[in-house]
Amino acid sequence: MRQTTSQAQPTVTVDASTAGRPLLEVRDLRTEYRSPSGIVRAVDGVSFTINPGEVLAVVGESGCGKTATALSILGLIPRHAGQVVGGQVLFEGEDLLSVRAERLRQIRGDRIAMIFQEPTLDPVRRIGDQISEVLRAHRALSHHDAWNQAVEFLGLVGIPRAAERARDYPHQFSGGMRQRALIAMAVALRPDLLIADEPTTALDVTIQAQILELLLEVRRSLGMAILLITHDLGIVAGFAERVMVMYGGRKVEEAPVRSLYRQPKHPYTWGLLGCTTRLDGNRRDRLPQITGAPPSLISPPTGCRFAPRCPHAQELCRASYPALLEVGDRHRAACHFAEGEEWGSS
Ligand SMILES: Nc1ncnc2c1ncn2[C@@H]1O[C@H](COP(=O)(O)OP(=O)(O)OP(=O)(O)O)[C@@H](O)[C@H]1O
Ligand code: SF4
Ligand SMILES: [Mg+2]
Repeated sequence: MRQTTSQAQPTVTVDASTAGRPLLEVRDLRTEYRSPSGIVRAVDGVSFTINPGEVLAVVGESGCGKTATALSILGLIPRHAGQVVGGQVLFEGEDLLSVRAERLRQIRGDRIAMIFQEPTLDPVRRIGDQISEVLRAHRALSHHDAWNQAVEFLGLVGIPRAAERARDYPHQFSGGMRQRALIAMAVALRPDLLIADEPTTALDVTIQAQILELLLEVRRSLGMAILLITHDLGIVAGFAERVMVMYGGRKVEEAPVRSLYRQPKHPYTWGLLGCTTRLDGNRRDRLPQITGAPPSLISPPTGCRFAPRCPHAQELCRASYPALLEVGDRHRAACHFAEGEEWGSS
C-alpha cells in the first residue's frame, strides 16, 4: 500500500512496507582503477544512506571519487579499467553488487536513473526517438504511445512546443535545453532515485539555477530521491537536505546542509566554502581558498590525507587517520580536532 507523507520540503510518496528503511545504503564501498603507475583507490571505504525522496549532495574537488562512487552503485565501472573490490550497495535491502546482470539492468533506468557527467545524447537521432527508446526498453508500449509519453516528459522539463521540438536533433537544442532533454530521458521511467553527476557544470550561472530548480520540480511531481554530484558547494544550499564531502576517495564530513554551512567541522570543507560560486554569479571571498593539490590515490599520504594542505595540521595528523566521528546532530567529521573547533576564527 502506498501512502503520502508531508515533509518540510516537497510531498513525497513512500511505500508503507519499507517506511523507515533507507532507499539506498552504501556500506564501506571500495573501488579501484588500474593505471600504468599502479592501483588507483578511487573509492576507499565510503558509506552513506539516502532516504526515499531525499536529496543528498556529494561534494569534493576533481578526482576525489565522486563519479567512481556513482558508477559503482550502478555497476558501471568499465571492466577493462577497474572494479568494485569491496562493500555493499543495498537498494531497498537488495545488494546490487551481488545481483545478476539482468536484474541490475532492470533496476538501472527503471528504479535508479543517472544523468552522466559526459553528455549522452546521440547526435544523429531525434530527441523524441531517444526518449521513446528508453521507455520501450522497460515498458510494453507501442511506438506511438512511447512517443506521446516522450513529448509529455519534454513538456514536464519545460521544453516549449514539446510535440514539435521532439522531432529535433540534439544540435538544434541549446546547452540548457539539451540538459533538460537528458533530465526528461532520465526521469521518463519515474525512477525512485536519480543520480545527477555534475548536471549543471557546463552551463552558465543563470541556466544552472534554472536546471536545479527544474530538478526540484521534477522531484516534487515524481517523488524521487536525488543524489547530486558537484564540485561546487555553492549550488547545494537550497537544493539538498544533506551533504557528504569527499576527499581523496573518502568521506570526510557529512551533515544537514544548514549545519555544514554554519559550522563546517572539517578544515577541507571550510576551504571548499571559500571556492564556491553563488548562483547570483558572485564569489564568496571572505573565506580562505585551498592551496596545493589533492593527494595521489595510488600512494596517498599516511595519516590524514588532507594534512599536506591543512593549515591546522599537527604531528598526530600525519601519524594516524582520523575516524569519522559524531560532532553534532547528524553531523560527522573525520578530523582529529573537529570537535568544538571553529576554523574560521583561527
Ligand atoms: N578509467 C579510469 N582509469 C584509471 N583511473 C581512473 C579512471 N577513471 C577515474 N580514474 C581515477 O579515479 C579517481 C577518481 O575519479 P572520479 O572520476 O571518480 O573523480 P571525480 O570526483 O568524479 O572528479 P571530477 O570532479 O573531475 O569529475 C581519480 O584519481 C581518477 O584519475
Ligand atoms: S586531522 Fe589534522 S590535518 Fe586532517 S583535517 Fe584535521 S587538523 Fe587538518
Ligand atoms: Mg566526476
